Amino acid sequence: MKTARSHQAYWAFLGHRLSGLALALFLPAHFYVLGMALDEARLDRFLKLSEMPAMKFGEWGLVLLLTLHMFFGLRLLTLELLPWSSTRDARLAWIGWGFAASMAFGFAFIAGVI
Ligand code: HEM
Repeated sequence: MKTARSHQAYWAFLGHRLSGLALALFLPAHFYVLGMALDEARLDRFLKLSEMPAMKFGEWGLVLLLTLHMFFGLRLLTLELLPWSSTRDARLAWIGWGFAASMAFGFAFIAGVI
């Protein structure tokens, strides 16, 4: 049986919402770390952690979350703001492209290109 949840657009919605929430949860931690810049030595000590593999993994996850949210968000904005007749592709085709582009950015990050 075909349900709403088996539709590709449902997974795009879920990916967009979960990535948006995860990014919002990350922001307070990010501002806290930025606040450490008031004490340079403290910030330097913390930034040493960023060489740990677990931190690199977290940064990679962040790149994926941000690019996934951005591409799915741009798709929604296109659907909402452009004339319906010119957005046929954005409805379904952009889900796959958005996901693929997000993965490409993730790989580029791992490879050290970005
Ligand atoms: C990178 C550029 C971004 C774009 C193009 C973008 C786009 C959008 C759009 C269009 C929506 C509305 C979705 C809807 O109509 O249901 C949205 C929702 C949301 N965004 Fe973003 N956004 C971006 C960055 C961010 C960032 C950096 C955060 C977090 C710090 C964030 C957190 C959220 C959250 C929590 C929602 C609500 C999700 C939902 O209700 O499903 N967004 N975004």
